[in-house]
Amino acid sequence: MINLPGWCVRLAVLYALAGMALGEFMGASGDHTLQPVHAHINLLGWVTLALFGLIYKAWPAAAAGKLSLWQFILFNIGIIIQMTGVTVIYSVGPETGGPIAGIGSTILIIAMAMFALQVWRHCRS
Ligand code: HEM
Ligand code: HEM
Repeated sequence: MINLPGWCVRLAVLYALAGMALGEFMGASGDHTLQPVHAHINLLGWVTLALFGLIYKAWPAAAAGKLSLWQFILFNIGIIIQMTGVTVIYSVGPETGGPIAGIGSTILIIAMAMFALQVWRHCRS
């Protein structure tokens, strides 16, 4: 069994570095076009994923089993697809990027619902 809380925080810090690097680029260049990408890499990738890690660590029963592993995998796939879609929206156009962002966002919501299920099942005590 993989160390799920550990992997959540290990990936979260990589999103933080990527999100901050993009913020630094935006600040230095004065080009804030990709602000929503910057905001959501940081808020979904760093903050939310790190919270998953801490909650999985605090309630190990919620981290055990296949559902939490798939939740983690789907959430990361969702972030990457959503961020690709939002980047395309702001660089090419919403007709091309919108559907990609929509697929990513749907995957993210499914992964969040899976997390909610684990929390309600296992975070009673
Ligand atoms: C080295 C670190 C960071 C730098 C250089 C940076 C830079 C920036 C810049 C230049 C903007 C655009 C501001 C504007 O257009 O008005 C921005 C917006 C934003 N950043 Fe960062 N940022 C950093 C870290 C973070 C982190 C860690 C988070 C979240 C955990 C975050 C969340 C946001 C949000 C939510 C916005 C949008 C704010 C709004 O709607 O007005 N940033 N950031
Ligand atoms: C499926 C997940 C999500 C979707 C589809 C989504 C969608 C959006 C959209 C469409 C905007 C407006 C962007 C614009 O006006 O350019 C936005 C802004 C924002 N969202 Fe989200 N969001 C999601 C998750 C989150 C989460 C988890 C957080 C915080 C933990 C968050 C925090 C924010 C903030 C602070 C802003 C304003 C900053 C900005 O303008 O970029 N979002 N979001």
